[in-house]
Amino acid sequence: MTDGFKQRYGPWALVAGASDGLGATFGRAIAGRGLNVVLVARSADKLEALAQEIRTEHHVEVRPVVQDLGRSDLLDALETHTQDLDIGLVVYNAGLSIIGPFLDQPIEKHLEVLQVNCRGPLALAHRYARPMARRGRGGIVLMSSLAGFQGTALVASYSASKAFDMVLGEALWEELREQGVDVLSCCAGATRTPNYIASDPVHGRLKAPEMEPGDVVEEALASLGRRALVVAGVRNKLLGSVLHRLVPRSLAVRIMGASMRRMYPSSRS
Ligand SMILES: NC(=O)c1ccc[n+]([C@@H]2O[C@H](COP(=O)([O-])OP(=O)(O)OC[C@H]3O[C@@H](n4cnc5c(N)ncnc54)[C@H](OP(=O)(O)O)[C@@H]3O)[C@@H](O)[C@H]2O)c1
Repeated sequence: MTDGFKQRYGPWALVAGASDGLGATFGRAIAGRGLNVVLVARSADKLEALAQEIRTEHHVEVRPVVQDLGRSDLLDALETHTQDLDIGLVVYNAGLSIIGPFLDQPIEKHLEVLQVNCRGPLALAHRYARPMARRGRGGIVLMSSLAGFQGTALVASYSASKAFDMVLGEALWEELREQGVDVLSCCAGATRTPNYIASDPVHGRLKAPEMEPGDVVEEALASLGRRALVVAGVRNKLLGSVLHRLVPRSLAVRIMGASMRRMYPSSRS
């Protein structure tokens, strides 16, 4: 399985948003399958520590790249670090979410969400899928969220951006698969990453199902090349299909809004 994965998606992978949480877990899991990895994030210390850990553990090459994925010249900035590499797998993991009433944040914050969550994956998919298509093999994973299945109050720009990621991934799955490039949209639900834990959600009797990062990542990597979209976890799949298929869309929006207000009472509008 590992050899097949390496042949299909190696020799190098790039994980965007890789110093922590799901991104660091993707980095470890991909290196565990024998690929060299480029790890991109802003925190130099965390990246260096992770790079060292992965080199020691998995005996692969690791290239940490300190970069803000929100910058407008992102592709040029990455080019200097990746132009000599044969990148067969890109995971766009970073996702900026601002929790709170839409109007309480300056427009600049919402535009930053678009830069990191929409412009970034679009740009990286466009840049790195081209050589993959030429080679006739490769993979792209775009991280989305259950929040992207419908508009979600208190994370309006984030949920809209995650709908963008989901739909972009599906469209590219259909376009690129005949050229040998597998694209996957991965919708995570609540996942116990440092960012999620730091958001300090309040759990009532109806606790949202939470997953561990390793389980989300393993399910995503196992789904790559098999389907266009994966909702990670059985309980999230159930929740997703209830919200997406069984109830009217306006009710799904209200259910998610009520759940967000319960989880983040200090952020209520
Ligand atoms: N955790 C959840 O409950 C959950 C639920 C649904 C979907 N998701 C999705 O899963 C993905 C990962 O989530 P996560 O919880 O692990 O946290 P995250 O904050 O989205 O990602 C954390 C990683 O991305 C990097 N990053 C963030 N902004 C960046 C930027 N502007 N430039 C470069 N790197 C940046 C962070 O490192 P630096 O700070 O060092 O830059 C860190 O390594 C996201 O796309 C999110 O939407 C998560």
